[in-house]
Amino acid sequence: MSQLTVEIKRTPHSRLSEIDFDNLTFGEQFSDHMLEVRFSEGAWRDPLILPYGQIPMYPAVSTLHYGQAVFEGMKAFHYSGGKVNVFRMDKHYERFRRSCERVCIPEVPEEIFKDGMKTLVETDRDWVPKSRYKSLYIRPIVFASDQTLGLRASGNYRFYIICSPVGNYYSEGIKPIRLTTMPKYVRAVMGGVGDVKVPGNYAASLQPTMKAQQLGYTQVLWLDALEHRYVEEVGSMNIFFVIGDVLVTPPLNGSILPGITRNSVLELARAKGMPVEERPVTIDELADYHRQGKLKEIFGAGTAAVISPVGTIHHDDYQIAIGADEMGPVARWFYANITGIQHGEIADPDSWCTLI
Ligand code: COI
Repeated sequence: MSQLTVEIKRTPHSRLSEIDFDNLTFGEQFSDHMLEVRFSEGAWRDPLILPYGQIPMYPAVSTLHYGQAVFEGMKAFHYSGGKVNVFRMDKHYERFRRSCERVCIPEVPEEIFKDGMKTLVETDRDWVPKSRYKSLYIRPIVFASDQTLGLRASGNYRFYIICSPVGNYYSEGIKPIRLTTMPKYVRAVMGGVGDVKVPGNYAASLQPTMKAQQLGYTQVLWLDALEHRYVEEVGSMNIFFVIGDVLVTPPLNGSILPGITRNSVLELARAKGMPVEERPVTIDELADYHRQGKLKEIFGAGTAAVISPVGTIHHDDYQIAIGADEMGPVARWFYANITGIQHGEIADPDSWCTLI
């Protein structure tokens, strides 16, 4: 199956029987194995699949101090005919490569990323949940491993892939979530690292998100860093609005993460002939559309979140509240089609599925 030679050291004690696949909390359980590849003296070496477990590192390892690291979020699905599908591998690799470039991490060769992942998923294929609404979340992570407090790009790196069987990302399930803007905070600025998948973006979102949650909201809806007017994204997902019969989402302006699910939504919408606009959207404009009854639906799209309806957006002293506590028809259509393609129930439009 794989062109890459990967040594496999299997665990003598599988933990599979301990997993309650009916009650999965996002990202809390991990499959039996992981992939490890090390970079030293200018080359990635010796791909190894080994039992999931602790990894040795010193406290001086530079990623802990300066955050030179990149990750991805992907999923493998139970697919028709007993196969397993890793969804949109090419797009994820492309983003991973771009993210690494931005923080001076040497390119992880495509073969190591893809064939290493396929071999890992094949090794842990029994961990892919059989249910329509669940998946095996795949988390590639690469980080600087030099021991140094000097601020410079590391000479050594480690690349891991770990897997976690998951259900819904939000505790609301597929019920609408509640968002609030936090104009005092920003997620990212143009020219920064908001458009690549680096851990610091997520660390910076924690304090405002915690404050939003204390006020009764699920997540923060981030506004642009300069004018605090333009809607950007939610941090764990991109955002979409149905205004009249047009699907609207903010453009990839350099501070928004180019979501792979965002791309899937846009490609499906265009193929269906739905009017689509990727354009700047202000929060005030949304409030106006809401007052006029033209704002029909709001939903987020992300690998972990899939398609998540948004029922409320709070901004200043205005509350946009839409939907009758359930997913609207447009979001439902995308949810059904994307998950249908992922599980092999709907034809794969453009080689989105890698079958194992
Ligand atoms: C993903 O959707 O894969 C992400 O990495 C978002 C993360 C907050 C779970």
